[in-house]
Amino acid sequence: MTLPTPYHGSGPGPITPDGCAVDYYAMLTPNGEPEIIHAAAPAGASILELGAGAGRITRGLLALGHEVVAVDESPEMLAHIEDTETICSPIQSLSAGRAFDVVLLMSFVIETADDELRRAFLRTCRRHVAEDGCVILQRKPPEWYDTIQPFERITEAGHVVRMTEVSRPAPDLLYATMEYTVGDRRWTHSFLSRRLDDDFLRSSLEEEGLTMAGFLGGDREWVRALPV
Ligand SMILES: C[S@@+](CC[C@H](N)C(=O)[O-])C[C@H]1O[C@@H](n2cnc3c(N)ncnc32)[C@H](O)[C@@H]1O
Repeated sequence: MTLPTPYHGSGPGPITPDGCAVDYYAMLTPNGEPEIIHAAAPAGASILELGAGAGRITRGLLALGHEVVAVDESPEMLAHIEDTETICSPIQSLSAGRAFDVVLLMSFVIETADDELRRAFLRTCRRHVAEDGCVILQRKPPEWYDTIQPFERITEAGHVVRMTEVSRPAPDLLYATMEYTVGDRRWTHSFLSRRLDDDFLRSSLEEEGLTMAGFLGGDREWVRALPV
């Protein structure tokens, strides 16, 4: 079976290796994520944010009193983060040299269709979480994968967000293309993602020395894991 290219991005400005448009992410604002993470973390907790992008969530976490180290493999993304330490590195080979109260892997990065890469992401989380700390992951609930169809919506900021293409090239795999239009600028982002149901995620975590400890909120999108 031939699978589609896992990631492809196009449009004005730099594009990250996983297809994200830097200029588009730099203009996005958070949507309650820093507060969800803050509520699950001890006051003033140190946070290692993996795949921090242009700092959309970083800034909110800093404002809530956390010490944040922001990691991304895209120097163009990290150039937008000025208020805290950044590390330009692939997540899978990161060595930050210290442990953190919270290791955060959000924005569905964990859903890569590359099983070995996902294991390496989880090993990075395990290597960097303090023994009394926690890992917080964000994944789409499995039901999203079963029901998602092409759509179009207009955000509060007036951006047009469209999912133009959805296919399911193999069980548990979804290939989709997003299109973002802001004024006369348009970006596309195609990605191949793996549906992570609770049992699969639990066993993937266990293989890397982490145990699933529950969800943040009722929709099972945010997962909390603890070092074993
Ligand atoms: C969808 S963006 C989200 C950025 C940010 N978390 C947010 O919510 O605005 C995903 C980010 O993860 C980064 N990323 C993806 N895979 C990565 C990897 N293997 N190593 C380092 N960074 C990665 C990309 O460069 C991109 O900046």
